[in-house]
Amino acid sequence: MNSTIETILNHKSIRKFKDTAITHHQLDLIIRAAQQASTSSYMMAYTIIGITDPTKKAVLAEVSGQPYVKDNGHLLVFCADLHRPTKQASEEDFSQMTENLENSEHFLVSAIDAALAAQNAAIAAESMGLGICYLGSLRNNLGKVDELLSLPKHVIPLFGMAIGEPAHGPDRKPRLPKQAVYFENEYQEHDESINQFDEQMATYYQSRSSNNRADTWTKQMHRRFAKTIRMDVTDLVQKKGFNKR
Ligand SMILES: Cc1cc2nc3c(=O)[nH]c(=O)nc-3n(C[C@H](O)[C@H](O)[C@H](O)COP(=O)(O)O)c2cc1C
Repeated sequence: MNSTIETILNHKSIRKFKDTAITHHQLDLIIRAAQQASTSSYMMAYTIIGITDPTKKAVLAEVSGQPYVKDNGHLLVFCADLHRPTKQASEEDFSQMTENLENSEHFLVSAIDAALAAQNAAIAAESMGLGICYLGSLRNNLGKVDELLSLPKHVIPLFGMAIGEPAHGPDRKPRLPKQAVYFENEYQEHDESINQFDEQMATYYQSRSSNNRADTWTKQMHRRFAKTIRMDVTDLVQKKGFNKR
């Protein structure tokens, strides 16, 4: 196994960081790695905002309700950005572009571009011995984050990423069996492997070193989808000119 695959397979989210900032060199490599990700039609339809202002970090930690948004070696916010690619268009050209720009296709393109860049950043950070945690919790109050970061129209925050020197060693979380996620030629229902995974997860949740409980993956997913979450996201997304048609 090569060291890239080893880094990827050893991934675990880190939620406690040492009180040490990552170095400029580490940050530079992380951002360069993010930028080298593939990007739809060369659009590079994302922006990454590093949060160095402790007051802003504190606001974001309050939005997320998670202390590691504040206590880390660096915090990045990944945004979908359709503003930059259309920035220098004349008023007439821009109004012609708007219908296209604001459709679901380009919402997907910008979110996918941002996610690909983020995952490259994550792997780069982990390859240097740093830990990371993605932060969808910033969407608890998307409007507040949008305002805090002064994002123009056609730019929205998607998620954050806390990075830093790990201060704990959580267990690696199991994944679904390959048969449950990889099919050939057509979609397949593979209940058997999901049942097997539920048994494995029941043991994992009962025996892991912290936060142990009686649970399975299926129960967790059903609980998750049974309650409404972040119903205001659609409104903000559309207000900012994304996913309107
Ligand atoms: C887009 C995205 C958003 C996430 N948001 C959060 C979050 O807000 N808080 C958190 O503690 N973990 C968050 N996570 C981490 C997941 O909970 C974690 O990846 C998953 O449980 C698997 O665990 P592992 O990363 O340790 O393997 C997020 C992950 C992704 C990909």
